[in-house]
Amino acid sequence: MEGEVKEYQVAALLMAIYFQGLDPAETRTVTRIMMESGERWTWSDEGGPLGDKHSTGGVGDKVSLILAPLCAACGVRVPMVSGRGLGHTAGTLDKLETIPGLRTDLEKDDYDRLLREVGFAMGGQTESFAPLDRETYALRDVTGTIESIPLITASIMSKKLAEGLEGLVLDVKWGDGAFLRERERARELARSMIEVGESFGVPTEALLTDMESPLGRTVGHALELKEAVEVLKGRDPEPRLLEVTTALAERLLVLTGAAPDEKEAGRAVREALQGGTAFDKLVAMVRAQGGDPAPIEDPDLLARAPCRLEIRAPQDAVLAGLPARRVGRLLVELGGGRRTKGEEIDRAVGLVFPRAVGDRLAAGEPWAVVHARDRTGAEKARGVLESIVAWSNEPVPPRPAVTERLSRMQ
Ligand code: URA
Repeated sequence: MEGEVKEYQVAALLMAIYFQGLDPAETRTVTRIMMESGERWTWSDEGGPLGDKHSTGGVGDKVSLILAPLCAACGVRVPMVSGRGLGHTAGTLDKLETIPGLRTDLEKDDYDRLLREVGFAMGGQTESFAPLDRETYALRDVTGTIESIPLITASIMSKKLAEGLEGLVLDVKWGDGAFLRERERARELARSMIEVGESFGVPTEALLTDMESPLGRTVGHALELKEAVEVLKGRDPEPRLLEVTTALAERLLVLTGAAPDEKEAGRAVREALQGGTAFDKLVAMVRAQGGDPAPIEDPDLLARAPCRLEIRAPQDAVLAGLPARRVGRLLVELGGGRRTKGEEIDRAVGLVFPRAVGDRLAAGEPWAVVHARDRTGAEKARGVLESIVAWSNEPVPPRPAVTERLSRMQ
């Protein structure tokens, strides 16, 4: 951080780590050095246990928007620090900022107040967390050393551990739209992060989740926020989205001790969704972070794209596949993602998929709706979607969303 070790030397070290790997003790050391380069939060003893979730990022992944208020409604304090979009994946922070007035530049004092008054808060990465990770990440980016399991572990865990948690759940995605596509690599990353979390005394578990196709029915900022609100209102949630969200929430309740076992956790989560307390928490957070709660109460007030185009099934067939990565890139092409750092994004554009992979459609039935700025953009998106979708005459078994659970014991 003082510039004593030159960038070229750090770059050489990163390259050595990229090729040689680190053993668990070395990974812990790098994580600790990164964490100790910045602020570390501590919390008042009053209130429930402290927990959070981290996702390695996916397409249509709006889980955080549901999970944070849901867990708060079940008694966990959640000081969530989220990121912006990266590559073909959109970020939680950008989705939240669809709400007019909502502040996400929260300081520790804001988190203290919000956790006391609401039970959770959602802000952006502060400058004060693991500054050494920021420097290192920039160097990794330009030296092609991002995809290293020990470096990813240290980068993610140094920031999460600085939050001062009593439990952490990790959503490690694999498949076409995931950061690490191969399931075995995702499993390796999950194990490495669990090892580090537990060695710092934070109960940590991971779920491996399927990211072959987008999660839920929507991709795009305002559309995803609306879908998250509908889930919190208990209205017809898409089953795979509900499966991932409730599985993560239940494990977090058990890990932090907010629920004695999985059965009780499941009951608490169902009650918070059906009874509206999770939704009430979201409204309270929006108010407390300076946002206008009206578009949460009525999501039709959220920003809407001017042009909509329905795409229909060409024949009676089963929807067999929708590659997530290309769908994520399509959102960027529609203007809903950044090609360069700091670029403005259009939060209204996106895609809706009313039917899921495995569903049988009749000829002419809509399977996608493009929300675009204009007709040209919408037609281009239609061309892409029609070229990537897979149809089948045979039944296609639905894929489970949660494919594995990993904890320290395994
Ligand atoms: N996200 C991070 O914060 N760091 C990584 O290294 C990869 C993803």
